[in-house]
Amino acid sequence: MDIKQVAVIGGGTMGNGICHVFAMNGIPVNLVEMEQELADKAVETIDKNLERMVNKEKIDAEQKVQTLENITTFTNTIEAVKDADLVIEAVPENFEIKKQVFADVDKAAPEDSILATNTSSISITKLAATTSRPEQVVGMHFFNPVPVMKLVEVVRGLDTSDDVVETVDETARLLNKNPVEVADYPGFVSNRVLMPMINEAICCVHEGVADPEDIDDVMKLGMAHPMGPLRLADFIGLDVCLDILNVLHEGFKDPKYRPSPLLVKMVDAGKLGDKTGEGFYEH
Ligand code: 3HC
Repeated sequence: MDIKQVAVIGGGTMGNGICHVFAMNGIPVNLVEMEQELADKAVETIDKNLERMVNKEKIDAEQKVQTLENITTFTNTIEAVKDADLVIEAVPENFEIKKQVFADVDKAAPEDSILATNTSSISITKLAATTSRPEQVVGMHFFNPVPVMKLVEVVRGLDTSDDVVETVDETARLLNKNPVEVADYPGFVSNRVLMPMINEAICCVHEGVADPEDIDDVMKLGMAHPMGPLRLADFIGLDVCLDILNVLHEGFKDPKYRPSPLLVKMVDAGKLGDKTGEGFYEH
């Protein structure tokens, strides 16, 4: 199946990044936000990130114009998905919100279209079961910043068909990304491996082993990570890290995933990282 029209539900950090890469690779994309103001803000962010690519000579000015022309904004999901071959949901990590989005999309999208979710922690199988087409539901997990990171984690729910996985794999390659197929277990592979490292770094801060800068230097200089785990936690959002650790903890019932009490306290205090201006660092 060729993907000729895409709809992305949600224009936040991940949603606008996903729109950016589809549009830049010549695939028309409908961007859905709750209000026109939010949709305009998402396009503004895409514009800014495209300009950054023009300045770095990764694309030229004409490609930037064409990319923006490939994006149409909507505030109505039903309208936006009616001709979409692939719908990607990128709304907040809340099962009830996602379930509602999937209900609208399931009702309005063409019978054979693929319903993907960019969730980082919610079970694909559980979301799929709320639709009339579980075999067409799949995880398409992108990484922030989407225009830069090469991975798409393709998550196969219990009923996801081989054809759907194959189409999503091919689509990710068209975006110059590397798809990696994984099964639907808590945290998939990416966050099951990443979050315990971040949590352990937070435990080191909590126990006074070293301060955040030094912990990050250990991982940057000793392990060649582009960002240390605490800087990365701020970048991802401490609330998102806590949510994912809770999913791992509850999903496996294993105390090794227990979130650090310091992480819980920071989230309670509203210190969520880059987005609130304070986390392990001041931004
Ligand atoms: N759009 C387009 N280009 C961008 C961009 C964006 N939003 N953000 C950065 N870039 C480009 C820059 O222009 C630059 O291009 P160049 O290589 O041609 O110079 C390049 O990316 C590097 O950016 P900078 O020079 O501004 O800054 P850094 O060298 O510090 O890199 C970084 C920034 C790419 C964010 C790097 O620090 C990094 O890779 N960090 C790790 C990010 C990571 O681990 N992401 C995954 C998070 S987990 C996740 O998303 C999953 C979820 O489920 C939690």
